[in-house]
Amino acid sequence: MQTLEAKTTPAFSQTDWQRGYESQRQELSYFVDQITGTVPPELTGTLFRNGPGLLDINGETIHHPFDGDGMVCAIAFQDGKVHFQNRFVRTEGYVKEQAAGKICYRGVFGTQKRGGWWANLFDLQLKNIANTNVIYWGNRLLALWEAGKPHRLDPHNLETIGIDDLDGILGKGDAFSAHPRIDPACVFDNGQPCLVNFSLSAGPVSTLHLYELDPQGQLLRRKSQPIPGFAFIHDFAITPHYYLFFQNPVSFNPLPFLFGQRGAAECVQFQPDQETKIIVIPRDPASTQPMKMLKAKAGFVFHHANAWEIDEQHLGIDSICYPSFPEVEPNSDFRDVDFTKVDPGQLWRFSLDLTTETATATMLESRCVEFPTLHPAYEGRPYRYAYCGTAQQSQGNAPLQALVKFDFEMGTKQFYSFAPQGFMTEPVFVPKPGATAEDAGWILMLVYDAARHGSDLVIVDAADIAAGPIASVHLKIHIPYGLHGNWTGEVFGE
Ligand SMILES: [Fe+2]
Repeated sequence: MQTLEAKTTPAFSQTDWQRGYESQRQELSYFVDQITGTVPPELTGTLFRNGPGLLDINGETIHHPFDGDGMVCAIAFQDGKVHFQNRFVRTEGYVKEQAAGKICYRGVFGTQKRGGWWANLFDLQLKNIANTNVIYWGNRLLALWEAGKPHRLDPHNLETIGIDDLDGILGKGDAFSAHPRIDPACVFDNGQPCLVNFSLSAGPVSTLHLYELDPQGQLLRRKSQPIPGFAFIHDFAITPHYYLFFQNPVSFNPLPFLFGQRGAAECVQFQPDQETKIIVIPRDPASTQPMKMLKAKAGFVFHHANAWEIDEQHLGIDSICYPSFPEVEPNSDFRDVDFTKVDPGQLWRFSLDLTTETATATMLESRCVEFPTLHPAYEGRPYRYAYCGTAQQSQGNAPLQALVKFDFEMGTKQFYSFAPQGFMTEPVFVPKPGATAEDAGWILMLVYDAARHGSDLVIVDAADIAAGPIASVHLKIHIPYGLHGNWTGEVFGE
């Protein structure tokens, strides 16, 4: 088994890492001619990525990267050539703030308007910043943010078309989360793929809203499921017959938000002594089976890697669990975070027994990991391989600098590290055309190279990630550390 420990000491410099969070104000569209290695000629399609592009508004710093305006990148591949473009989503808030040259909205993660609590008092308006994910589905390119409706973009030039209600599927006040899952072969639709997504109405009693869309973007199924208590849920998982949610053990005290002192998400308090509730909801519209709620000690979960059905009464789910909810203190700069004081996200496997309504948990990986991905054909199914970003060192929290591949069947893992000056973001798995092996594909990811203050689109062969990049596509600009994105086999761009 490879280890990363000997490669560099220390693993990174905080100054290098911080520069990756400088705002990117340029919008470009060009064919890339700076490429190291060879882009596979059979790699055909477009990688869309989303994330905060601005970390300040005209010099006024935002409090948390999650409050940054969404900037979408499209990196298209055809015949070994690469086209890059990036563009901000013209949300109502982006347009207004750029015209005003100042922060005009409070952010969910603590960004405040100038003037202290008085200027923010009782301003409960949310800015839909469209910064969390981007997906091409049903001939629409959608920029997603979990507390609002999607923004539709033109996939060719990334121009913003506007807020999209999915042909009336989303009503007034409805949202569409930033973590849709694609069921590769839905058992209710003769094996055709479908997009599964949710939204959450949080309150003293919360409600989960589930949506399933066919490949043309038409609604197949929807249902709403009340769940007891306040909920803060970012991601979910699916199997062929179930939706799975982790209701994190948190409470919500809205008063600091109402009184203009804190962002709404900063009013969420982790309750370490309480258990996580694992919610299992049947997908079958004909099912009379009620929702099940299992309890587990899981900490705080943002992301799930995958879930699967072992048999009719037993499910598995792999999730990244934090011992506590990572917070940014008020009146602090997120760039100055002391990583040694932040808990790592660790990979856990949960085995669920629906008959006894019990869950058992096993830690698979104690090293800090995030942004799990897998071969899309294995979504919701038993799987052998997962890929994540990980830290250079084996203990504690730190920036993601390495790619790790887990082989759950063999109990082994492989690494490739970009340390000390490379910082990676979410890996995306692209299957090789015509191949059948679960790891026959490429891993695509944006890596910020602090040595040149620019980002690379890096391609790694998923079957042998330790061999390192087969191609690094050197972009002219840096892309601030992003959140999520998706691949489509269609080629967009010039
Ligand atoms: Fe996420």
